[in-house]
Amino acid sequence: MIPTVEWRDGTVRLLDQSRLPEQVEVLVCRDYETVARAIREMKVRGAPAIGVTAALGVALGAQSLAEARYEEFAKAMMGICDHLAATRPTAVNLFWAIERMKRALAGLRGEPVAVIKRRLLDEAQRILEEDIAMNKAMGRHGAELIRDGQTILTHCNAGALATAGYGTALGVVRAAWEQGKKIRVLADETRPVLQGARLTAWELMQDKIPVTLITDSMAGALMRQGRIHLCLVGADRIAANGDVANKIGTYSVAVLAKAHGIPFYVAAPHSTIDLATRSGEEIPIEQRAPQEVTSVCGGAPVAPLGVDVLNPAFDVTPAEYVTAIITERGVFKPHELATRFRS
Ligand code: MRU
Repeated sequence: MIPTVEWRDGTVRLLDQSRLPEQVEVLVCRDYETVARAIREMKVRGAPAIGVTAALGVALGAQSLAEARYEEFAKAMMGICDHLAATRPTAVNLFWAIERMKRALAGLRGEPVAVIKRRLLDEAQRILEEDIAMNKAMGRHGAELIRDGQTILTHCNAGALATAGYGTALGVVRAAWEQGKKIRVLADETRPVLQGARLTAWELMQDKIPVTLITDSMAGALMRQGRIHLCLVGADRIAANGDVANKIGTYSVAVLAKAHGIPFYVAAPHSTIDLATRSGEEIPIEQRAPQEVTSVCGGAPVAPLGVDVLNPAFDVTPAEYVTAIITERGVFKPHELATRFRS
């Protein structure tokens, strides 16, 4: 598969997810503004992927600066970081990655600017590689929770496409599949942007992992019929009390799962855990354009012109609905995160 995001020949290359599955196209970003636009327009999306992309965007911005003295260079870098941070508000991985790049920059004070530019790129590459390694570790821990023959419901896309590679929730699925477990994924289509239909179904089919596509409204009936054994989703931000922000519709899945006695698991790396945010109530929820709701993927309108629309891109699932959180350090109860991840 073409990588979700990579650095090549002085550019940031992104698999353009807004065009999948019809077109498999790579967007070549030659400046940090194009990287920022790609994040805002969801050409790259998914919490870990936008963090990695922003880090590479910071490194790309650094290469273009002409400032030769540290003070001026660092000031210009802050402008680049602010520009990239203003793209999407909910996924904390974006801010986590940018903060890490800022720390790297601060630690390089005194070095020649040419060296700083190289080291910033090294740091961004490390963020990318660590993301893949964390996903594989998460896969190993999470696969223990999946038994042969089970059907797993997922929502949105928390796969290789949403990360630098392998995936969080779908990384767990991949690991179970690689262990030889005969499993099936039920993919919620995930209105309005259809990440489940366009991306999860496509990604799993590429890997020949059995997948069945359903509309979001079908999950409850299938749970009642005993056809779903567990739910497994990713996260955009997990608060200190274990509340989980993820794609709109996740909360409904969690409530349904609890009502039917089905485990509801969240897979996320430490870059998604935000101990500075006390509870889900403090998590900023991105509101997106009404057109995403009044038409399907920018096609013909499906609603009367001028209708009032709500379009929150994420919701918060309270910790009490989350059976456990799968991380690269192991599987924890939501309330355990604050102590386990205090660094
Ligand atoms: O709006 P998106 O497509 O960026 O939302 C993505 C999700 O909600 C994912 O479930 C989440 O980022 C976890 S990805 C590993």
